[in-house]
Amino acid sequence: MVPAMHRLALITLIACGTPRGEPSAPPPAVPQPEHHSAMHHRFDHADEWAKVWDTPERDAWQQPERVVAALKLGPRMVIADIGAGTGYFSVRLARAVPDGQVIATDIEPDMVRHITERAAREQLPNLRAVQTPPTDPELAPASIDRILVVDVWHHIDDRDAYARALARALRPGGKLAIVDFKRESSHGPPPEHRLPPDEILGALTRAGLRASLSATELPEQYIVIGAR
Ligand SMILES: C[S@@+](CC[C@H](N)C(=O)[O-])C[C@H]1O[C@@H](n2cnc3c(N)ncnc32)[C@H](O)[C@@H]1O
Repeated sequence: MVPAMHRLALITLIACGTPRGEPSAPPPAVPQPEHHSAMHHRFDHADEWAKVWDTPERDAWQQPERVVAALKLGPRMVIADIGAGTGYFSVRLARAVPDGQVIATDIEPDMVRHITERAAREQLPNLRAVQTPPTDPELAPASIDRILVVDVWHHIDDRDAYARALARALRPGGKLAIVDFKRESSHGPPPEHRLPPDEILGALTRAGLRASLSATELPEQYIVIGAR
């Protein structure tokens, strides 16, 4: 029987990985559908994940204030945080849009419970958590100003279909930001599940968005922006 904390450490390694290098293919001239398989992994026991994700150690490499700044938020905006987990970004977004709204989605009911309780505890009435199916963000068409997707894209199966659903949910002028791990990052999933930014740029372009790599540099991750 593996003790609970050892199990968590093992799961963390599976989710966050160890440094391993793999040469990446040169970017295709025309965006092609991606070929990296999705990483399937349960994220239940939100309170345990909070001890891993909501930590000063993560703050140091995650640099959340720079990610939020890259979104160029207005105080009344409606924002969706897709695969919000324990609400690491959702609470920061909710504080940044005091007269707006944040919808935090996750496929795990325990993450939804955790964020709902966290929003009440941190007095953020503009933050609402909803459980969604793995294939559909369930956002109303043209209803969202900003969408943030951090460390989630590599868990999604049909990323082209998901990108189309997110593009539909954006208001004209709206923006989507996908943050995921660089190939050489010391955190993140195993190499076979790491996505080159070109793959995400292709999916967003095929979904009809103007896709570009953000000028905001993070130590461990890249940020891909899709604009409607
Ligand atoms: C590595 S965590 C990232 C959590 C959060 N975004 C953060 O940066 O702290 C990935 C989260 O995405 C959720 N997830 C995985 N696949 C999903 C999908 N298809 N739709 C929505 N959430 C998903 C998982 O349940 C988990 O909470």
